[in-house]
Amino acid sequence: MDKIELITGESGPVVDERLHSQFIEFLGACIAEGIWVGEDSEIPNIHGLRRDTVEALRELQPPVVRWPGGCFADTYHWRDGIGERAKRPVTYNNNFGTRSLEYNQFGTHEFMEFCRLIGAKPWFNGNVLSGSVGELREWAEYCNRGKGTALAEERAENGSAEPFGVEYWGIGNESWGGGGCYTAQGYAEEYRKYASAFPSFGTPEKPFSSGMKLIAVGPDGNKPQERVAWTKDFFEAFSQYRQPPLYGYDLHFYNWNIQDPEDRITAFSEEAWYRVISGCLELEDVIEEQYCLLQEGVSKIRRPEGWQVSGDNCRLVVGEWGNWHRPPEDAPSALWQQCTMRDAVTSALTLDIFHRNCGKVSMACAAQAVNVLNSVLLTFGDKTVKTPNYYVFQMYKEHRNAKAVKLNVTSETLFRGEKGKVESVFAFASCKAGKVTVNLVNPSYREEREVLLCFDSKAEYCSGQQLGGMDPTAHNTPEQPDAVSIQEAPSPAACEEGWRTVLPKASITVYQFRL
Ligand code: AHR
Repeated sequence: MDKIELITGESGPVVDERLHSQFIEFLGACIAEGIWVGEDSEIPNIHGLRRDTVEALRELQPPVVRWPGGCFADTYHWRDGIGERAKRPVTYNNNFGTRSLEYNQFGTHEFMEFCRLIGAKPWFNGNVLSGSVGELREWAEYCNRGKGTALAEERAENGSAEPFGVEYWGIGNESWGGGGCYTAQGYAEEYRKYASAFPSFGTPEKPFSSGMKLIAVGPDGNKPQERVAWTKDFFEAFSQYRQPPLYGYDLHFYNWNIQDPEDRITAFSEEAWYRVISGCLELEDVIEEQYCLLQEGVSKIRRPEGWQVSGDNCRLVVGEWGNWHRPPEDAPSALWQQCTMRDAVTSALTLDIFHRNCGKVSMACAAQAVNVLNSVLLTFGDKTVKTPNYYVFQMYKEHRNAKAVKLNVTSETLFRGEKGKVESVFAFASCKAGKVTVNLVNPSYREEREVLLCFDSKAEYCSGQQLGGMDPTAHNTPEQPDAVSIQEAPSPAACEEGWRTVLPKASITVYQFRL
């Protein structure tokens, strides 16, 4: 039997809610169809924003949404997406095989309305490849200057007298690849320019708008040697002379699953189940490695003794993460993939990694929210389906802003992959207002697992939710939208040592106890 000891007496760092953020991009059917249908659409909408998507995301409340890309951000000109919609220029979207005209109907104001409706903060990603320092500076002016300037007046004429107060600004995207094939030194020079040109806004009473949170491009998390070199070289260049503000360092990590033609998204072998699950676990080592390099890099910044300088509080951000499967031949749009219980398990384990490392990573965005890669929602014509991933985020909401609880886990190794060991049980626990939330993942393809939970203090069982326990390939479709959905978990049984429970195969369980 596996055993989880919860040391509730020793509280850990707070789980930043921003670790549950999402990413949306002009790619495939993410925005066109998935989020934006237009006011004249027969699909019910709120000012052109798809109502069912808005409602489902409002329930999930992603704390931050990153937009407009991704790779798309590095060719996006924000002026194409403001003003009267009928007069906006038509451009071409070649992003990851999207191959469609882009009518620019979902621009700055529409994105801001979307964020307001779902209760998220925006993260704007700037164009460093085909844009300019001036263009990004003006976008920030347009969004955040209170009133009086030509750009603030233009925003008011376009419908928002109130400034948007956009706090997070990404300077480029994947600049080591599609974002310009920069060297780390070359990118660091660009970053210095863009960040120094960044205007400041607001008053000390409104710090969110006076101190913009600028995010630099971190490494390709999937390339071991390149990622080490990128971070070392970036910080070497950044630490010279004077430094502009630096709030976050954006590492991207995808769990690639494109090699094996036999591994289909909704029909895979037991070996493929474990291989993909073990693949997502590598992120924990990547975070550890990159956090150490970041600390080392920041320590090189020259400063008079005892001074805190820009960059000192810089934390890792994971702006894109998720499973990236081999696209099915009949995929209706670019990078479209179904999400099964395999994706739900890797999503749960990835969130666990972020939670465990919440002192090192401040924000993370799942790629992408709708119709692209590791989605929480899939749209089919006028129908929207919640994927198993959606329910993982929902069940994990209780961890937001709670304190991590120290755990001792005794388990067995089920599978040793190149990138990680799949254990018989994975767990994370947090505590808020005297309530402990503990999640347990049984990653076994075929077997249930008995687990003993032991608390270091008296604990009373409150409630439990469960996802899975069925075929590992289970997923939701318009015909069977609730094939996978949250069920009430059977209560654990009180015993002398604590609480005993049996976790069904391929399942995620979240229990709550009152201390
Ligand atoms: O999320 C899909 C793409 O993956 C993004 O546009 C890019 O940043 C990454 O390579």
